[in-house]
Amino acid sequence: MQIIGASPRPGLGARDKMLHSEAMNDLAGKHILLGLTGGIACYKAAELCRGLIKAGATVQVVMTDAASQFITPVTMQALSNRPVYHSQWDAREPNNMAHINLGREADAILIAPCSADFMAKLLHGRADDLLSLTCLARPIESVPLLIAPAMNREMWAHPATQRNVAQLKADGAQVLDVGSGDQACGEVGDGRMLEPQELLEAVVALFQPKSLQGQRVLVTAGPTYEPIDPVRGITNLSSGKMGFAIARAALEAGAEVTLVAGPVSLGTPRGVRRIDVRSAREMQQAVQAAAEDTSVFIATAAVADWRPANPAEHKIKKDGSAQAPTLSFVENPDILAGVAQGERARSGALYCVGFAAESQDLLANAQAKLARKGVPLIVANLGPATFGQDDNALLLVDAKGVTELPRADKQTLARQLVAEIAHRLKS
Ligand code: C5P
Repeated sequence: MQIIGASPRPGLGARDKMLHSEAMNDLAGKHILLGLTGGIACYKAAELCRGLIKAGATVQVVMTDAASQFITPVTMQALSNRPVYHSQWDAREPNNMAHINLGREADAILIAPCSADFMAKLLHGRADDLLSLTCLARPIESVPLLIAPAMNREMWAHPATQRNVAQLKADGAQVLDVGSGDQACGEVGDGRMLEPQELLEAVVALFQPKSLQGQRVLVTAGPTYEPIDPVRGITNLSSGKMGFAIARAALEAGAEVTLVAGPVSLGTPRGVRRIDVRSAREMQQAVQAAAEDTSVFIATAAVADWRPANPAEHKIKKDGSAQAPTLSFVENPDILAGVAQGERARSGALYCVGFAAESQDLLANAQAKLARKGVPLIVANLGPATFGQDDNALLLVDAKGVTELPRADKQTLARQLVAEIAHRLKS
């Protein structure tokens, strides 16, 4: 199938510009070449294309013949708002060099799905179709190549495929993980293409500055839960969103990230090591173990200050006397202060960041907390205005003064905070 004499490929036109100006976009101004190769996961590429565009990118789709067996170019053209390319003989290009032009204007190439066959082809530098030709001809230093493999579990596990994955990585491509689970063939195992949202996040991460490269970051997030009896407990309204956003931002910045999460129902950013805990003491144990191997500790968790002293073994029941039970409390350990007083933090090997969720006097409370916790940086926010919300505003307080991060969505703030921390690590 070859399109001859159709209208020329559009530049970044009016509709693209309109998409860019919409809201705040993680991929604003980025141009992504989305390559599809043969595989049932092509149906997910439609949603991925839409996600990329919603995030502000412009998308040029290139499909192999095999991909067109699974999804039509019509669908991809409608979603990307651009004619799809598939042939190296496409006469729409004035110089008849689509493989050069497409690669030069892209900020990144993402092959999703990438079949086992296409990986083998890339590995050998073969170039007998437009997509492989474009990959081979891309400026290797400035146009990153992301590969999202998708195949049957036996094909994925085959030594040939694993060899190809290793070699593609050595050649500078970023080969993403595969998912695990039910496969279209009816088998169950590794080899599914990552979900569109995960792929979108990988593309967004690609463009973030690698300011924490080589750092090992530990984050606590969410509330803790302190049992009163087997069915009741004390907790708070922290959603964990800020801590999860920070974990993702640190990962995007190139760090290895461990996230110790209280009871929240948020998905783990792909690539983050997550440890689920419930009580403050469980959180403390997990943190102490992980802190040994950490260079930055960011404590965002809303840890309960107190816990019931003697949780009942069985449910506390009404006894008809109208007498409410009396609870007594003991203080929970201060996880952050404990880590900040440890050997690694005092020697300068571990940089600690505390959060302060206040209801008033943000600055005064943050300054007091800086001294009380013995940490170099406190991030203050108004508790009632942030718990459960998607946006926030932060006040960074350290020995040098105060930095304000105005109200924004939590992911944006998390990236700004990571940049501020990276800056302080350097100086
Ligand atoms: O003392 P306060 O709860 O106001 O301090 C808040 C900061 O200390 C946050 O960074 C929080 O994660 C941390 N914290 C802790 N362990 C506690 C209480 C608070 O790590 N028991």
